[in-house]
Amino acid sequence: MCGIAGYIGKDGAKDFLINALKRLEYRGYDSAGIAVVEKGNEVRCVKKVGRIKELEDNIKNEKWGETVGIAHTRWATHGIPSEKNAHPHSDCDSNIYLVHNGIIENYKSLKADLERAGHIFKSNTDTEVLAHLVEKHFAGNLEEAVLNALKEVEGAYALAVIAREDPDKLVVAKKSSPLVLGFSEGETFIASDPSALVGFTDRVIYMDDGELGVITTDDYKIISIENNSEVNKKPNVIELDLSDIQKNGFEYFLLKEIFECPEVIKNSTRGRMIIEEGLAKLGGLEVLDQKRLRDIERIIIIGCGSASYAAMVGEYMLEEYAGIPVEVELGSEFRYRKPIIDERTAVLVVSQSGETADSLASLMEAKRKGALTLGIVNVVGSTVARETEAGVYNHAGPEIAVASTKAFISQIVVLALITVYMGRMRGMSMIMGKRILEEISNLPKLVEDVLQDSENIRTLAKKYSAYENFLYLGRKYNCPIAYEGALKIKEISYIHAEGYAGGEMKHGPIAMIDENFPCVFIAPKDSVYEKMCSNMEEVKARGGKIIAITTKGNEDLNDIVSDTIYIPKTLEMLTPVLACIPLYLFAAYVGIERGLDIDKPRNLAKSVTVE
Ligand code: M6R
Repeated sequence: MCGIAGYIGKDGAKDFLINALKRLEYRGYDSAGIAVVEKGNEVRCVKKVGRIKELEDNIKNEKWGETVGIAHTRWATHGIPSEKNAHPHSDCDSNIYLVHNGIIENYKSLKADLERAGHIFKSNTDTEVLAHLVEKHFAGNLEEAVLNALKEVEGAYALAVIAREDPDKLVVAKKSSPLVLGFSEGETFIASDPSALVGFTDRVIYMDDGELGVITTDDYKIISIENNSEVNKKPNVIELDLSDIQKNGFEYFLLKEIFECPEVIKNSTRGRMIIEEGLAKLGGLEVLDQKRLRDIERIIIIGCGSASYAAMVGEYMLEEYAGIPVEVELGSEFRYRKPIIDERTAVLVVSQSGETADSLASLMEAKRKGALTLGIVNVVGSTVARETEAGVYNHAGPEIAVASTKAFISQIVVLALITVYMGRMRGMSMIMGKRILEEISNLPKLVEDVLQDSENIRTLAKKYSAYENFLYLGRKYNCPIAYEGALKIKEISYIHAEGYAGGEMKHGPIAMIDENFPCVFIAPKDSVYEKMCSNMEEVKARGGKIIAITTKGNEDLNDIVSDTIYIPKTLEMLTPVLACIPLYLFAAYVGIERGLDIDKPRNLAKSVTVE
């Protein structure tokens, strides 16, 4: 995944573009570049390896009279991070410059044809073929050249193109990668994500797949790439607050987002619980024919990474309380299987970004097969949100840190609400609905309590930060949380960790246990607590160190464990929300202790829009 930005208007291209890149940096951060057309039609193009700061420092004293420009922050797919592979890419004549997010699948054959025709390539990227293809079709009119070029292209793209020889316009196009246009007086902005536009405008148009936009200083036109006809689209006003995308006194976005969790839970549940009646009120699902929803025989929940672990928690909840058979599938696997789906199957995609390529491809496959498609999505207006028939927004606010925390918590909370919503359609009693909703409404306060313990967790993180291996164990609702805890410490601290179902330890991982391989046990006092205690004994017997997360007031473990973190008591199905908080803090503090940038782990990107 990469971030792209563009500007056309007064003299302010450089400032907007650098600002936008900083906000999009979470999407990729191995190299960055900018190209602007100056008054007088000169193109300036600068690219740097490393963070946006490198690029910013390099051009901050440049005095450009730029009115049109494009910029890019890269997460390498084809070709190592280097200046030559960084975007913008240009054609042989240094006329066409473009930035691209996505993958050109047929780039090899296109490149071979273009090379045969005499085009000289400078990079190892798939994107550069686009610049030469546009060059091939260019006869003075940029949009015509881009339109014709895209007809030859297979793959995914969000694209912004400028041309020295057609300097007063910015041409953009979208297929399977996000792109939003923002409008202000005499200025138009483009970006991969609306967070880049905050403070510049709140009037936006989300581009749809197969659309090309032609933007001039005072006008815009959107065209269907397939049939060249104009599409009528007007800007909508979005709600986004500058404070949502700032650190607000925290050293890292990751810490800010963990500490936001109580507020996030309130936002995810606001107006969605009628506690006295034991009902969840989910407007996003009420739009559906309720009989169709009631007649659903099975749900397949699809997600990748953390979202798939939230999905697993949802599986347990929906089966236990709503009595619906549920399967969880990884987007990257589901899309290549021959899934058996019909109109009585609901396919529910869980995705923070709503842009994850594997989850999206699975969604499209489910649509083709006639399933009811649903989404749990955080980014408003994202592709999953638009492609599903119905769904529920997380309302977690922008998640900037690459590792997901608050969005994951909100996914579990939304899944709990959906459990009540669907459960009440299928025989869940009002008393049970009420009980679950009451416990959900207590969660913000309980999460606050866990956050109060952050200094202790920081001390523990110091104690354990030099270990190179961890085993995370949990059962039932907290088995996926063991996976999530292990994923977080891998991502944030680069420590090898494995997440396992507690009962699986004796089937192999126990061989690894010694005094250098600490185990984190997620063991609240619940229906599987005793089983977890037996697993702890097994680890202790082999000299392993144990960190236990257990319920406040539980003193039983004092003789077995090395360290304990307490979480308050709640309903078993909601314990994952509380157990995650110390795991997140632990991973964050270990990462800080190791001197890492915990907001932007190496090799990762916030949303993975490639296969
Ligand atoms: O945007 P999505 O929720 O679809 O993203 C899914 C995963 O890529 C994401 O959860 C990933 O595993 C994160 N790095 C987890 O912290």
